[in-house]
Amino acid sequence: IKKIGVLTSGGDSPGMNAAIRSVTRAALYKGLEVTGIRYGYQGAIEADFVEMKKLTVSNMIQRGGTILKSARSAEFRTPEGRKKAAENLRSQGIEALVAIGGDGTFQGGTILQQEHGFPVIGIPGTIDNDLSGTDETIGYDTALNTALDAIDKIRDTADAHERMFLVEVMGRDAGFLALETGIACGAELTLLPETLVHIKEVKETLRNILTNKKRSTLVVVAEGDESGGAMELYSNLKEDFSDIDTRVCVLGHIQRGGNPTARDRVLASRLGVAAVNALLDGHVSVMVGVVNNNIKLTPLKSGWSKKKSIQTELLDLTKILK
Ligand code: F6P
Repeated sequence: IKKIGVLTSGGDSPGMNAAIRSVTRAALYKGLEVTGIRYGYQGAIEADFVEMKKLTVSNMIQRGGTILKSARSAEFRTPEGRKKAAENLRSQGIEALVAIGGDGTFQGGTILQQEHGFPVIGIPGTIDNDLSGTDETIGYDTALNTALDAIDKIRDTADAHERMFLVEVMGRDAGFLALETGIACGAELTLLPETLVHIKEVKETLRNILTNKKRSTLVVVAEGDESGGAMELYSNLKEDFSDIDTRVCVLGHIQRGGNPTARDRVLASRLGVAAVNALLDGHVSVMVGVVNNNIKLTPLKSGWSKKKSIQTELLDLTKILK
């Protein structure tokens, strides 16, 4: 291989820039050329390419977002779109791709490899932490700390006014972010898609908490929870809980931005180098991850098709410590 491409796709996550930097510098170190593809797979379809040099990636390890921009390309979901992308990549001399993103990114990469024999190495970058084959995804730790920082502040005002707060965190249909946020902020109740707690039970639990004379109460709700998220939960609670002043806070995209934590920068740096090594070792369709502090390669397909399970030990903590 003489030249590789690198792109970021899907929802951005803090640490993607650190990963781009690592892929670029590792590849240059190994004597390869690197082309950045802007706007994810859409950029491959539109031949939106940029040459990556050592200095292109300087002063960015600390920045959130992605200098290569990101997109969810509808065109790339069509065979015609993928054909055009593969042709453009080859005509540019790009022989393999490093794709940084989440499940949609890896699905796209898997199909590109299957249909056009194009080697694709995936680097897990998503705040949702929902990919099998890595203990953590790039951006998860930062998002967790962002949510925690926001909730610590909410706690102060919740306590001052003795209010109940329903705080919604992201994660799409996974509850990893909500679970660890709930533990770290000492939430009275944490609702996750994986545990399927019925509204009746939610009401009973809250009533118990409130009758035990604790008035300020914090409920962390995963956006994908079966309650329908914090707004819907509020509508379902307001009649029965009219005796407690309740407020809703949807943290939303604040969790996707900001400077990556040290842990995310180190993870991104490790995975970028591992991705280049995997390509040079002849792998064509794998995801790089860190499991038990060791680099691990997983078939790209199982990264998104195999459901990562929530740790039951962590779930127990929410019950014991609430
Ligand atoms: O996958 C990352 C994520 O932030 C999810 O947690 C969330 O459901 C989704 O992306 C939001 O997507 P968008 O930025 O397109 O609104």
